[in-house]
Amino acid sequence: MNEFERLMDAYDLAHSEPETPLLAELNHEANMRLLHGRMVSGHLQGRLLSAISHMIRPKRILELGTYVGYSALCLAEGLAEGGRLVTIDRDDEIEDMARDYIGRSPLAARIDFRVGDALKLLPAIEGPFELVFIDADKREYQAYYDLVFDKVPSGGFILADNTLWDGKVLAPLQRGDRQTAALLAFNDFVAADSRVEKFILPLRDGITIIRKK
Ligand SMILES: C[S@@+](CC[C@H](N)C(=O)[O-])C[C@H]1O[C@@H](n2cnc3c(N)ncnc32)[C@H](O)[C@@H]1O
Repeated sequence: MNEFERLMDAYDLAHSEPETPLLAELNHEANMRLLHGRMVSGHLQGRLLSAISHMIRPKRILELGTYVGYSALCLAEGLAEGGRLVTIDRDDEIEDMARDYIGRSPLAARIDFRVGDALKLLPAIEGPFELVFIDADKREYQAYYDLVFDKVPSGGFILADNTLWDGKVLAPLQRGDRQTAALLAFNDFVAADSRVEKFILPLRDGITIIRKK
């Protein structure tokens, strides 16, 4: 991030809704304590996820890639009355931290956190989900998309995070970089998929907003 981008980011955050104290604590702890703390959606993207969820008012949300629960807590803010969010992560090493923060939220009872491989769990999870957030292994985005597509009703949304991958989608592909290769293929597939309307929002690492026709 250059100086202009840093100042713009700070200005943006200063004029956006603040994080709740719980989200601020989670964001801080993840960044201080965890090796990959930067994977947390964070303040600005978290408010975007909350806003999108509030606009849709989904009865059910599906998230692939819980990590420490930050984005799950943001997305759950917009659930319709009685709605529920299912979130999946295969990393049992961060399970306790995620359960701790989710458990401290007033939304805890509405969040169903499952530990396991999304590719294995998804076939048995019944839809519909009006909102799906894909944020797990970049090499598996196409597989997640294919597995969730029929669980999303017409008019429902799929969000895919990190689709600009720190600008690597524009750089010459490095040999062995399977994550970038998979994201390039996924972005091309979604762009050509006539079943959906889509656009990539260049916020943070890029987030593709996909609406099923
Ligand atoms: C970028 S982090 C998620 C960040 C979180 N959504 C947020 O914004 O705060 C990606 C997570 O996906 C999980 N993951 C990767 N592949 C997975 C798979 N096949 N099934 C379930 N979880 C997976 C990783 O363990 C990691 O915790």
